[in-house]
Amino acid sequence: MLSQFLEQRYSRLFPGLTEDMLTRALPQALRVNTLRITEDELVARLEERGFVLEEIPWVKHGYFIREAPFSPGATPEYLLGYYYLQDPASMYACEALEPRANELVLDAAAAPGGKTTYIAQLMRNQGCVVAIEVNRQRIKALRASVTRMGVENTIAIRMDAREVAKLGLRFDRALLDAPCTGTGTAHKAREALTKDEKDLEVLLPLQRALINAIYEVLRPGGVLVYSTCSLLPEENELLVQEVLENRDARLLKIRHGSPALRKPYGMPLDKQIKKARRFYPWEHHSQGFFVAKIQKL
Ligand SMILES: C[S@@+](CC[C@H](N)C(=O)[O-])C[C@H]1O[C@@H](n2cnc3c(N)ncnc32)[C@H](O)[C@@H]1O
Repeated sequence: MLSQFLEQRYSRLFPGLTEDMLTRALPQALRVNTLRITEDELVARLEERGFVLEEIPWVKHGYFIREAPFSPGATPEYLLGYYYLQDPASMYACEALEPRANELVLDAAAAPGGKTTYIAQLMRNQGCVVAIEVNRQRIKALRASVTRMGVENTIAIRMDAREVAKLGLRFDRALLDAPCTGTGTAHKAREALTKDEKDLEVLLPLQRALINAIYEVLRPGGVLVYSTCSLLPEENELLVQEVLENRDARLLKIRHGSPALRKPYGMPLDKQIKKARRFYPWEHHSQGFFVAKIQKL
């Protein structure tokens, strides 16, 4: 059941939204790892095993798994790193970052590595990705993903990303896939329905400190993609609004998704905010997700 806190917010933000729209199962999706195999070859191999795949029109290498004779995490192709099971909106956050080969790219909250390994793939295993993760257990999963997917341009570092300046690096691009309430993931985690102000009290200061620390280590002209799997404007539009107010920054256009909320709870925000994007389970068949692309001027 939805917490009273979420009930009140969602009724104002998304009139007509039902709990069923939040919790309905979503199709599983995979991302072809073109570092290891071509799309055609992987699709042929999985179809041979009885899987039915359907291309996702708004991501580059993503497919919905429409039928699976057994778990898609239990094929030889999975173990060989030919694909990663990943939500399409998560794939899209990496595409919005537009990392280029030969750039220095930061992934500041990286485990278990779904986005790190896609960033490396988009860079064709060139340049360098610095992947930071604070949690000792989760960094093992990050290292395992990097190895399984054949990623060779990535260094995984266990540290608190709020201290990233200590590395003494200037990044061309950075992804902050922030720790968040996960309110967009109710299709797989019922606890996403129970979040309340206490969760925000812990997370907002962390998100704010992370975004500021990462902004500092971007080179001028550098690009930061901020993403969450939350539906709450507090962790999304309102945080990006703070960056626009306090920094010499602008938002860059993102092609897919729905425009971010211009007036959450009736609060008018910077006009640029609509350039940030939202993904909704009931509209995009992905987890609830937010992506903003911020350029440091
Ligand atoms: C949303 S998850 C990241 C998912 C990952 N980007 C992916 O696509 O596979 C957020 C991660 O941030 C990590 N984290 C939390 N606080 C952090 C901090 N201060 N510094 C670095 N990582 C942190 C969490 O342990 C968690 O693994």
